[in-house]
Amino acid sequence: MGLPFLSKEKNRILARIRSDESTRLRLKYDIYYHTFDGQTGTRVQREGREYVMLSSNDYLGLNRHPKVLEAGRKALEEWGSSTTGARLANGGRSFHVELEEELAAFLGKEACHVYTAGYLACSSAVEGFAERNDLIFADKNLHSSLWSGIRLSGARCERFSHNNPEHFAQIIADEPKEVPRILVLEGVYSMEGHVAKLPAFVEVAKNYNAFVVLDEAHSFGIMGDKGRGTASHFGISDKIDVLCGSFSKALASTGGFVGSSRENIDYLRSHSKQTIFSASLSPCATACARTALKIIQQEPEHQERLEKNLIRYRSILKELELDTWESETPAIPIVLGDKEKVYFFWKALLEKGVFTVISIAPGVPPNKDLVRTAISAAHTDEDLDQIAEALAYAKSKI
Ligand SMILES: Cc1ncc(COP(=O)(O)O)c(C=O)c1O
Repeated sequence: MGLPFLSKEKNRILARIRSDESTRLRLKYDIYYHTFDGQTGTRVQREGREYVMLSSNDYLGLNRHPKVLEAGRKALEEWGSSTTGARLANGGRSFHVELEEELAAFLGKEACHVYTAGYLACSSAVEGFAERNDLIFADKNLHSSLWSGIRLSGARCERFSHNNPEHFAQIIADEPKEVPRILVLEGVYSMEGHVAKLPAFVEVAKNYNAFVVLDEAHSFGIMGDKGRGTASHFGISDKIDVLCGSFSKALASTGGFVGSSRENIDYLRSHSKQTIFSASLSPCATACARTALKIIQQEPEHQERLEKNLIRYRSILKELELDTWESETPAIPIVLGDKEKVYFFWKALLEKGVFTVISIAPGVPPNKDLVRTAISAAHTDEDLDQIAEALAYAKSKI
């Protein structure tokens, strides 16, 4: 046996890290992991310059709502900074249960369970119910959190083409009837802004007794009655077995939820590693989410302002003949279809003081490289003027 310290063989993990092409390109072009020194409303500051934020998911502009800030401050005073424990052990607090009851009532479900991140909630919404011998049907453009849940479950997964219920119907028809089946969808697709063709999907799923999991991260607060989501928009919340979502978008906090029947949530609490082995949602984040949830039910002006901004933003994009991939929601991609174009477009926007985010293949399908933008109720008319000018300039640069 050779002595390990004399071995000429390299540490393969370190070699992989040092030769990683994605990291080399990311550092070279400096497109991700930007750090802002300050934030005032929709404006962010960085290295002495100010930008209009055009890619935040603060759709309703509640991030600085006085009632949200006050609730967060009060919760910190009353409960401290953290629960320092998991729900199953010592981390459960009355404010978690109150938020869960309020969310369940809002969503029209019997029960809810809250998580420290939307990512954990959505991965758990799949993994917490699926087992190795089950069969999962997934839209091929699902968010990474749902893919994590699918992979961690160990179940076999069949993908169908994006938002295509006919394709789903074809592939489910070919599978053995005795295998337990789960359908996983998003209410609004985060990158594309597409609304799921939910009624058609649900009809097929129910014909085959499939269990339906719907991620409402980008539809919560935006779609349906007072923001109850895409299932509510189509009036079929009762046909969706599990709803999941995030507090970090329209609710301007952090954390996430899974909503379902009482029986399903009790089962999830016995099986969800994301909750059993992780400290519970912080007092401050819970209080901010609870208050934002009340605000969206009591103050329709935020949704109204978002709608008004959306109309203006869409008309700016249309006038410039930019391809928005038929987005129907405030999450609006600008598809340029090639990495270089995306890079120069994004840089030109920065030059004009507008901050957006790049998404390129394989993160998006081939030829769909895009700049992801999102409009907020907090954008002012002045912000929109600046955005219009910056987009016209960026278009002239590609
Ligand atoms: C569809 C979808 N699900 C889940 C998440 C995760 O939410 P969070 O960022 O709150 O962890 C996101 C966030 O981008 C998302 O877009």
